[in-house]
Amino acid sequence: MKKIEITASASIFNNLSELSSEDKNLIDKAVEARDKAYAPYSKFNVGVALLLENNQIILGNNQENAAYPSGMCAERVAIWKASSEFPGVKIKKLAITASSLERTIKTPVAPCGACRQTLSEYEINQKQPMEIIFMGEVGKIIKTASLRSLLPFSFDSSFL
Ligand code: THU
Repeated sequence: MKKIEITASASIFNNLSELSSEDKNLIDKAVEARDKAYAPYSKFNVGVALLLENNQIILGNNQENAAYPSGMCAERVAIWKASSEFPGVKIKKLAITASSLERTIKTPVAPCGACRQTLSEYEINQKQPMEIIFMGEVGKIIKTASLRSLLPFSFDSSFL
């Protein structure tokens, strides 16, 4: 038996002014997307902006449904939109932000497990890491250099 150590590193920024202009712009776009979310049940709005290698920015937000499991997270709406419109175009980075109608979200909101798995498929296929930047409504921003760093021991096509 041996034990292995898996570490993930991330950069934590105190506020938006510490980000590069490209990252700040992407967060601004994610806020635009967040404000158009359809989340009448959770009242928790999530917005995502993807920057593609061809410089297109693709937006997505969560879309809920009266039959709750039929709704969808913002990250998957955005990445499927990107892949359906620009198949095979690499994703450089992805910004996520969340707000609530009930309280101010002050901590960075990380993508859920199902979204990590979905994003992982595209990161593996493009053979290039995609940066993930996430925040709440205000406060600190977390940035990871890849999706993989958020999903160790992931399931991928090599198991099939
Ligand atoms: N949600 C996302 O859009 N992304 C995540 O990564 C986590 C959760 C949405 C789903 C649902 O509409 C609301 O947030 C509350 O869970």
